[in-house]
Parts: sequence; structure tokens; C-alpha cells
Amino acid sequence: MPSFKNSLKLPKNLINLVPTSFDQIGEIAIFNEFPKELKKYEKIIGNKLIKLNKKIKTVAVKNKKFSGKYRLQKIRIIAGKKTKETIHKENNLKFKLDIEKAYFSPRTGSERLRIASKIKPDESVLVMFSGIGPFSILAAKKAKEVYAIELNPIAHKYALENIKLNKIDNLKSFKGDVKTILPKLKKKFNRIIMPLPTDSESYLSLALKYLKQKGIIHFYDFSKEEDFPDSSIKKIKKHCKRIKILSKVKCGNYSPRTYRVCIDFQPL
Ligand SMILES: C[S@@+](CC[C@H](N)C(=O)[O-])C[C@H]1O[C@@H](n2cnc3c(N)ncnc32)[C@H](O)[C@@H]1O
Repeated sequence: MPSFKNSLKLPKNLINLVPTSFDQIGEIAIFNEFPKELKKYEKIIGNKLIKLNKKIKTVAVKNKKFSGKYRLQKIRIIAGKKTKETIHKENNLKFKLDIEKAYFSPRTGSERLRIASKIKPDESVLVMFSGIGPFSILAAKKAKEVYAIELNPIAHKYALENIKLNKIDNLKSFKGDVKTILPKLKKKFNRIIMPLPTDSESYLSLALKYLKQKGIIHFYDFSKEEDFPDSSIKKIKKHCKRIKILSKVKCGNYSPRTYRVCIDFQPL
């Protein structure tokens, strides 16, 4: 954003420190925490961005990576409307959320579309770790029926709102731990999506138990460049010796040279 940077009228040595990119969730722009030299200018920077970009009403910085069992990040507003709740538009759908109280990453939008493109109209789909509903609501547009399970009560509350907001009637959303909820559903699925790259492996044997014959699992993981895809396939094979790999994709950066990856596979 050279014009944004140049319009800031900051001392020349500081201009180069202004970050060039940010995430946008709904009307909120989120930067990584600024370097300390920029701290006293952060409000000026935020207000300038709001002035130049009519779709942004709040500017914030995140001072932690996603962490904890709910995968949350700490957000600090530096300019504009003092709210952390917004409505994000993705793949022609609307998602309401509080960006600090529920996990959401706008960077995964195209991966969600990749998964949705594989779903056939007669499928029953399970989305484990479903958050505010971006995988499950998009999947419900294609599948016969979708079940979703989310542990964070606030993310679950937003998922229920988002189901209504998008007028979806073939999606059942459950609040709680996959390990306790899934056995109670007494149901098997054609496709299971596992978007918890930090720990999907712990839930793999459960997913295999509730997958129909010829069913497909989308297994998310983090992987170093040099270990991809072997380390993720090794994790899967600990639980299921014979598999057919349908695709293996890098679908995001986690840290330098570490990717968010997905292995699509079918147990044989
Ligand atoms: C990386 S986020 C993905 C959320 C959503 N699928 C998305 O893409 O926006 C993982 C989610 O799994 C939830 N979670 C973690 N452990 C869980 C468990 N044992 N059962 C159900 N949900 C869980 C967290 O609260 C978090 O919302």
C-alpha cells in the first residue's frame, strides 16, 4: 500500500516500518502488533486507513497468535468504532462474530471452497471443531445434511446465529467436545472435516469409527516445508494402515516455512 504509507506524513525513517498488510474481518482491519517505534503513531495510522478505505470502520492490532483450546487471539483496538463484533462476507455467505471471543481466519476462505467443491448432494457431512460455522454452512449449501460440533460456547452461539443469517435448514450444530458429542449422535458420515491442525490426530480414531464405508476424511495439520506431506501421512497411518490419498495441499502459512496442510484420504 504505497499510497497509504506515503499519505501518513510520518518521519521518513518510520515510514518503512509501517506494515504493508493486514487481515480484514468484516469492517475490522487487524495488523500484527506494530514495532515499538510506531507505538505513538498507531492511532494516526489507524485513522488514516479508515479515511482511505470506506469498508473499514475499526482498526486493531493482534498481540498474540491463536492460542488455547478455543484458538483465540488478543485484540487491541487502536482507531475507529470500539467494537470487536462484525459481519464478515465470504463465498456469498455472512458470518457474524466477535473476533476476540471466537476463532475465525479470513485466509482459509479458498480452502473452504476447495472442500465444498468435492461435496455431492446426497452426502451426510460432519464438521468437527466447527467454530462460527464457515465450513459447515458452506458445506450445507452442497450436502444433503451437515452436523457440526464446537466446544467454545460463544463460537457455538454465533454459529446458531449464522445458520439463521444464511437461511440454512439442513445443518445441526452441537455445543461440546467432539469426544462426548459424536458418540451420542449415533450416526455415520460420508465425509468428515477436521479443521484443528494443532491436534486433529487425537480425534482421528474417533473420526474413523464414525465414517461410512468409502467415506472421506479431510485431515488438517501443521507441517514444515521439508516434512510435507510425509509427517502428516505418518500421523494418519498410526491410526489407519491402509489409505488412499486423494489430495495433499498446503493451505496457509502458520509461521515461516511451516504450513497449514490438508490431507484428503479414504480408508481402504
Ligand atoms: C482452528 S479453529 C477452526 C474453527 C472453524 N472450523 C473455522 O475454520 O473457522 C478450531 C476450533 O475447534 C474448537 N475445538 C477445540 N477442541 C475441540 C473439541 N474437543 N471439540 C469441539 N471443538 C473443539 C475450538 O474452540 C475452535 O473454535
